[in-house]
Amino acid sequence: MNIGILGSGSVGQQLGQGFLSLGNSVMLGTRDTSKLKDWVVSAGENAYAGGFEDAARFGELIVIATKWTGTENAINTAGKENFTNKTVIDVTNPLEASQSGAPPEISVTPGNSAGEQIQRWLPESRVVKAFNSIGANLMCHPEHKDGAPDLFICGNDIDAKKSVAHYAESWGWENIVDMGNISEAFYLEALAAMWVHYAVMNKSRTHAFKLIKR
Ligand SMILES: NC(=O)c1ccc[n+]([C@@H]2O[C@H](COP(=O)([O-])OP(=O)(O)OC[C@H]3O[C@@H](n4cnc5c(N)ncnc54)[C@H](OP(=O)(O)O)[C@@H]3O)[C@@H](O)[C@H]2O)c1
Repeated sequence: MNIGILGSGSVGQQLGQGFLSLGNSVMLGTRDTSKLKDWVVSAGENAYAGGFEDAARFGELIVIATKWTGTENAINTAGKENFTNKTVIDVTNPLEASQSGAPPEISVTPGNSAGEQIQRWLPESRVVKAFNSIGANLMCHPEHKDGAPDLFICGNDIDAKKSVAHYAESWGWENIVDMGNISEAFYLEALAAMWVHYAVMNKSRTHAFKLIKR
């Protein structure tokens, strides 16, 4: 399958490697392909870099892995028509820097989360919020010494969520927690804010969440 990823940062590159490892072809989208030269060489023959529009056209499934404040611009540059009838995985976190040294704060409110805004910008797409509350380097390698974390996802389309869960399971996620519709995205984004606060306070990047019951 062809996967288009909007984003040249660590999330785009790590998820790109993850999709390539499952036999897919991947194009990362960026405003400046020169910054992806090394990634394309190291990632192998089915890895490509292009503009945002190239990546969105290329992808049968599209991942949005852009800085939140640039996400609407990236989608508009990519051309909304290139997302029609596709599953779109939203990994963004709407966090904004606070005073120096302090952890960033969430910049959206319930009902207006990043996931919901993206679904509103792309009404003909099946948006699934996923992979946003774990470090980029662990998204496709979720095993931890304390056990497997859970992957929290949400979205309006059951089949799109099944498809995302299938990829996640192939990377080793053992338990996918479906939180419901995209209206739950705010809470997944708040969970990511908690991940970042813990990271800053404890100088950690290897923690993750698990829902347990008795
Ligand atoms: N890093 C993590 O561990 C992690 C974990 C979970 C979720 N997330 C979320 O995943 C997303 C990607 O994170 P990241 O760390 O990989 O990279 P990032 O530095 O947050 O974002 C980099 C990407 O954003 C694009 N971008 C920035 N400003 C833009 C603008 N004005 N218009 C269009 N595009 C713009 C950049 O485009 P160019 O390529 O053109 O520069 C680049 O592709 C973020 O929303 C982040 O909060 C990150």
